[in-house]
Amino acid sequence: MSRVLVINGPNLDQLGRRQPEIYGRTTLAELEAELKPLGEALDLDVVFFQGNEEAALVERIGAVAGDPDVAGVVINPAALTHYSRALGDALANLSQPVVEVHISNVLEREGFRRRSAIPASYRIYGRGIEGYSWAIRHLANRLSWKTETFRYGPLPDQYGDLRLPPGQEQGLCVLIHGGLWLHQWTADTTEGIAVDLARRGFLTVNLEYRRPGMGGGWPETFDDLRSALVQLPAVTGIEPERIALIGHSAGGTMALWAAAFHPGPVLAMAPFPDLALAASDPVWSGPMLRLLDGDHPSLDLYSPQHRSPPLGPTLLAAAQKDSVSPLSLINAYVEKFEGTDFLSCEGEHNSFLEPSSNAWGLASDWLKARKVTL
Ligand code: DQA
Repeated sequence: MSRVLVINGPNLDQLGRRQPEIYGRTTLAELEAELKPLGEALDLDVVFFQGNEEAALVERIGAVAGDPDVAGVVINPAALTHYSRALGDALANLSQPVVEVHISNVLEREGFRRRSAIPASYRIYGRGIEGYSWAIRHLANRLSWKTETFRYGPLPDQYGDLRLPPGQEQGLCVLIHGGLWLHQWTADTTEGIAVDLARRGFLTVNLEYRRPGMGGGWPETFDDLRSALVQLPAVTGIEPERIALIGHSAGGTMALWAAAFHPGPVLAMAPFPDLALAASDPVWSGPMLRLLDGDHPSLDLYSPQHRSPPLGPTLLAAAQKDSVSPLSLINAYVEKFEGTDFLSCEGEHNSFLEPSSNAWGLASDWLKARKVTL
């Protein structure tokens, strides 16, 4: 079993009692008790270190540098993130992947918190205490399957992670993550199902794209998906009909948007198909305002419900206990566009992201039966 070290910096021993309105009520001991079994389920031995002094943290990291048993590091360097060159240097010396975690949304707080001196291979922030679990899952996915980077533009978020199965027999699956277009939700959320598809013989591209606040919004966010799709056939040698789009939540909406021009299969899991109604939706109105940022494109340009019908085979999957994407809107899309498949699954909004779930099992079986074989 590979070992992963979770390091917490100054003041994080106070978790649960420290500004709970920002950092929540979970204590450090409770967090560690949650991460241990999560690691075991992913075949990782998770061990912990917390220190309030820079020197102690530098020394603990130094010990990892020569330790072949430690496969990766998750670190919340706390305030040291923003100014400690010593910590940055210590981490730069590691050959293992380093995931930087912040409980709060450091990009939307005081200006000084936007800066990081940490050379991380991946950053997770603004997802509350759950950010640590995402970091452990990200490391498990990284360690289980080698990736190559596919760049479809010059900007930092214009890339996808390619996973090549040995003796590839299937076509290409492009995964489009969700997260209500909030910038703290990134492509690691669809990594688990990307690895699952690679295991089943699909070539996969897990896509990142610009989100509002990070150079995205309407139309840049959607343009990114279009640019990636234009370039992928030449990069992979797979024709568009054999390229399946798999989107979750806001990414499901993007996949359905692309269904109007993309000829391959489209699997939209828990999408929000009618953006004209988003302004009056309790969950989607805020994200929609950020996406549009005062712009008002005409609806037929961007709302799947108002675009032309999907070109290829299309499935909309809904989870029975989803409180984010209303079933009525999914049904309205399926009713309007004849020939669209519909699947009702057990579980909730994020069940589709869990490779062992009933929801993902059923949705991915649909995909397997479509013509994405080479
Ligand atoms: C923190 C954010 C830092 O800016 C702060 O100094 C912390 C915690 C977080 O987890 O959100 O101590 O890293």
